[in-house]
Amino acid sequence: MQKRILSGIQPSGKLHIGNYFGAIHQHIALQDQGEAFYFIANYHALTTLQDAAKLRELTLDVAIDYLALGLSPEKAILFRQSDVPEVTELAWLLSTVTGMGLLERAHSYKDKIAKNIAAKVGLFTYPVLMAADILIYQSEIVPVGADQVQHIEMTQDMAGYFNTTYNQVVFKRPEAQLNETARVPGTDGQKMSKSYGNTIEIFAEGNALKKVVMGIITDSTPVEAPKNPDTNVVFQLYTLFATAEEKQEMRERFLAGGYGYGEAKKSLLKKIDEYFAPIRLKRKELVNDKAYVEEVLSKGAIKAREEATKTLKAARLACGID
Ligand code: ADP
Ligand code: TRP
Repeated sequence: MQKRILSGIQPSGKLHIGNYFGAIHQHIALQDQGEAFYFIANYHALTTLQDAAKLRELTLDVAIDYLALGLSPEKAILFRQSDVPEVTELAWLLSTVTGMGLLERAHSYKDKIAKNIAAKVGLFTYPVLMAADILIYQSEIVPVGADQVQHIEMTQDMAGYFNTTYNQVVFKRPEAQLNETARVPGTDGQKMSKSYGNTIEIFAEGNALKKVVMGIITDSTPVEAPKNPDTNVVFQLYTLFATAEEKQEMRERFLAGGYGYGEAKKSLLKKIDEYFAPIRLKRKELVNDKAYVEEVLSKGAIKAREEATKTLKAARLACGID
């Protein structure tokens, strides 16, 4: 039996190469290794994005981006979270077996509050909806970044509370699967993130891309001086795209001295352009064929909903709502 793989992507902004190497690349690779379900988490996005036109646009953008980046509808299911509204009912059922203490310990909630995001009830119960997303499809493997691991552990707890309360195994225990690329640095050396304004967008090109890459912050070591490749953002980003030999070559040039950051940035820019050129073309085709993208999403939703309905029925039966 193939394993059921599931992950959600929030449509909260333009995707960047941190998202790509930290998450999307693995999602696409996994479509060949199991039964993959990927959804656009638009219910979750409402906790931080409350602009209808923007949410609609970004939701479709994520679908187009995933298809351009290689998601194949023959291999994986892609759908909108909100096309399976059963998930919100399951979230309610789970909330009735979940203690406040579990949610109060959530790092992501505390982090968001620290960033001045309004403390709405939905932001607080975000992990319960996420648990419902995972459990409703009987998911076994959940590929995510390190920041999401605690949410998966909370999901395991919620599955356990429900199964124990009603003394039957309604939910499977999911496991997190971490990406190999733990942290892609941004143009300022911090973690690349939309919220830090330090991203290199996957679909940027031409002068806009050039400006971002040439603007990567570096130290003021003179061109002649040797430089440490391991503490240098340009090199770290280059390694994401380069072959082993190319990496070694750039490493030696930095160590030898006489090699400036400007030249390294040009090599990085060339790599980014080569890597994403065919993907950008594919994206342009998809933008002109929104009917196809919509069709992928609605077909995906039909399959996802079939699965969700089965699990929700079992959960309702277990707690006496039928
Ligand atoms: P952002 O920080 O830009 O808002 P998200 O929180 O929406 O990104 O992350 C979406 C996915 O991309 C998550 O799985 C996350 O772990 C991954 N990701 C985001 N930024 C990075 C990064 N700089 N390095 C590696 N993975 C990242
Ligand atoms: N919280 C995830 C993130 O911000 C998105 C998400 C929502 C998700 N539901 C999920 C991820 C279920 C995995 C499984 O990246």
